[in-house]
Amino acid sequence: MTNGLRRRRIISDTSAMLPENFQPDEYFPHIARLISAGVSSFAAADSADQLEAARIEFLGDKRGYLLEFQKALGKLPPEARREAGRAFNEAKTRLTSAFEERRDALAGSSRATGPKLDLTMPARERWRGGKHPVTLVIDEIVAIFRELGFTVALGPESESEWYNFGSLNFPADHPAMDLHDTFYLGEGALLRTHTSPVQVRTLQKYPPPIRILAPGTVFRRDPFDASHAPAFAQLEGLAIDEGISFVDLKATLTTFARRFFGSSTKTRFRPSYFPFTEPSAEMDVECRLCGGVGCSACKGTGWMEIMGSGMVHPSVLEAAGIDSERYTGWAFGMGPGRIAMLRYGLPDIRLLYDSDVRFLSQVAE
Ligand code: DAH
Repeated sequence: MTNGLRRRRIISDTSAMLPENFQPDEYFPHIARLISAGVSSFAAADSADQLEAARIEFLGDKRGYLLEFQKALGKLPPEARREAGRAFNEAKTRLTSAFEERRDALAGSSRATGPKLDLTMPARERWRGGKHPVTLVIDEIVAIFRELGFTVALGPESESEWYNFGSLNFPADHPAMDLHDTFYLGEGALLRTHTSPVQVRTLQKYPPPIRILAPGTVFRRDPFDASHAPAFAQLEGLAIDEGISFVDLKATLTTFARRFFGSSTKTRFRPSYFPFTEPSAEMDVECRLCGGVGCSACKGTGWMEIMGSGMVHPSVLEAAGIDSERYTGWAFGMGPGRIAMLRYGLPDIRLLYDSDVRFLSQVAE
């Protein structure tokens, strides 16, 4: 029902409006009719809009019927005013409470059944978290290598000295182990200092050809500062087959760098040393922040080191029971945390471990 219809009906049915020249004693029957018209009009409203139209009609402070009766009080002879005023107040109270009663009733029922309730509206969602930047980087690296034929292999974080050092050709008490000072758990067990033991564990289980990536957490007795953490992520790569050479290493890692950092990314390999590779090389990419010109992030060199790599040492293959005359291969190890710092331009590695949602929500997906 529209407002217009309602207004016409009320006026014609009840003649609630006060005639222009009413007699003083006509005030009372008119106001009684106003009350009953208003009360039934409010009770009949079955939506907030209809109720509001009725409110304006009866209680509106510019044109409402009640206002007419208020103004009419002034036209009454002084001796009739007191009683008429009392009737007016009574009408105002009754109409107001009839309106409020209906308003509350509509508010209560509209919550359950009201026509305005749109059950198809999507609920508001709170942020339920996202992937950590280091996880995002690992996922992306794994996706790139997966296309090149690599699968994921995992190993234990609590490792034996033999897998962590001996099998990887670290001579006993060799100074290279100083860089890997770690947490010893007793009885020859320690927290692994790198993901390289997964190379040997995998080769013992699966015969070549093999191409794996091994992401995981590693531990070192390092201070927690802007560029070190005592526990951090590493990602190992290993490819073993017949006839694999350094060319495969360079080509595969350069392809990876171009996929990850952009197709025009320049790379370079520098000679290095690891007990488990020979020859060994560090791989650098052109600094992502200054484009190779030199800045504080790359210490003025224009290059950023992203991983260690090399041809797998024959004694590692032999430790895993693989014939090193027949098979060769290459390996690499990188820190996804460092790569996340390069990617997101982070000045301090601790940002990755603080679990501060103000930071994480800026990069998490
Ligand atoms: N395990 C080395 C480290 O933690 C990283 C590494 C270097 C892994 C060269 C490799 C590699 O597989 O070929 O410092």
